[in-house]
Amino acid sequence: SADKLEYVKSKIGKYMDFPKKGIVFRDIFGALTDGKACVYLRDLLVEHIRTTHPDVELIVGLDSRGFLFNMLLATELGVGCAPVRKKGKLAGDVVSVEYKLEYGSDTFELQRTAIKPGQKVIIVDDLLATGGSLSAASELVRKLGGVLLESLVVIELVDLEGRKKLDSNVHSLIQY
Ligand code: PRP
Ligand code: HPA
Repeated sequence: SADKLEYVKSKIGKYMDFPKKGIVFRDIFGALTDGKACVYLRDLLVEHIRTTHPDVELIVGLDSRGFLFNMLLATELGVGCAPVRKKGKLAGDVVSVEYKLEYGSDTFELQRTAIKPGQKVIIVDDLLATGGSLSAASELVRKLGGVLLESLVVIELVDLEGRKKLDSNVHSLIQY
């Protein structure tokens, strides 16, 4: 498992000054284009959930890179999955919450039918930066009566202290 983690980490891309000068961009797609890294990443995430939250009932993924993981994990675990999407994309009744980006703001939505009150939920995304996205998604899960077991990310940018913005458990596989 430590070997798998090291292998995945070795494939995560690093780009200076993207998307703006001064930003060091960590790129999950560097790992996803490698077949072995894909399998190892899946194994690591599934193993983590199986050992810490085997009672999970729904995996919620964040628009858009979280979608790479929510159905993958859901099928491995035999539970359902749901998307949190940017506004205007989801049909029917939705709950909405505005969240802050580096510049300006956006709105996340979740379908009311996605979560049954009391359902045990894990939120998954590729990366935790300032925590605005995960904190907004957590609010949506709670609005629908979901019990948030954990927020799970592949990469955590520790210096941005996004963890401080979140009141749920946060687990990251890789830290920078
Ligand atoms: C990125 C990333 C996370 C979020 C993290 O997504 O995939 O979802 O930012 O940042 P935060 O912790 O500061 O909120 P982005 O909003 O760029 O959308 P995308 O996945 O569609 O590229
Ligand atoms: N990589 C990918 N997405 C991001 C990053 C990053 O370094 N920072 C904020 N969103």
